[in-house]
Amino acid sequence: MRHNDLSSGAEFAGYTAVAVILHWAMVLLLAAQYAIGWSMPEIRRGTQPETLINLHLSAGALILLLLAVRLAWRLTHSAPPPPAGLPGWQNRASSLIHGVLYLLLVVVPVLGWMNASARGWTVTLFSLVPLPALAAQGAPLGRSAGDVHVVLSYILLAAVAVHVLAALYHRFVLRDEVMRRMLPGL
Ligand code: HEM
Ligand code: HEM
Repeated sequence: MRHNDLSSGAEFAGYTAVAVILHWAMVLLLAAQYAIGWSMPEIRRGTQPETLINLHLSAGALILLLLAVRLAWRLTHSAPPPPAGLPGWQNRASSLIHGVLYLLLVVVPVLGWMNASARGWTVTLFSLVPLPALAAQGAPLGRSAGDVHVVLSYILLAAVAVHVLAALYHRFVLRDEVMRRMLPGL
């Protein structure tokens, strides 16, 4: 079977500029968030949220905010129709992995936030806007939320890896237009 050539774009339909900006802003923020998460000091009972930990909480809150904007945009603007000729299983697989990514982008920060609240820390957006506590201080549920937060952050990373490998596979092996739909200005 022959696949569409990258240059044949007569009926090409990409994501809106807003969707593209929100997608790549999220990629940058997530990369920063993992870098901060892995380099912040180990958190024990009684640890105070010093600079890097505070930065992790703020960046996480920003990720949630960006996600809310993104979901609102996505619910009011549908994705472009899939490029012609893609097998049905690829469309189903991509919808599934996008759903998993969105779900984990909500669940992972919320669990981290519950853990921060259970530790008695106030989550803020860069010390400007204090946010409400999601768990009572010392609540057992909020404590275990921290462990699940860390495990799910690795599962999110694995889902991102599958997503990125699929995008690269479309771009460089199948050489179809899937990747171009999410690239700026093309
Ligand atoms: C998608 C967003 C987020 C990602 C990818 C993420 C990722 C991570 C990572 C990689 C770690 C360190 C894991 C390790 O120890 O190896 C971590 C720990 C932690 N994060 Fe997040 N995080 C996110 C959002 C948040 C938010 C919004 C909060 C709180 C408002 C938060 C609070 C915490 C806390 C309290 C820990 C320490 C947990 C513990 O050691 O018990 N995180 N996070
Ligand atoms: C270098 C890294 C990345 C590349 C190359 C990439 C590429 C793409 C491409 C080409 C699409 C459009 C797929 C289609 O047309 O069906 C897409 C959509 C999407 N990407 Fe990524 N992506 C990357 C990183 C990420 C990350 C880190 C996340 C979040 C965890 C993410 C979440 C999503 C979601 C949720 C969609 C679906 C958009 C929608 O229809 O609602 N991507 N990505």
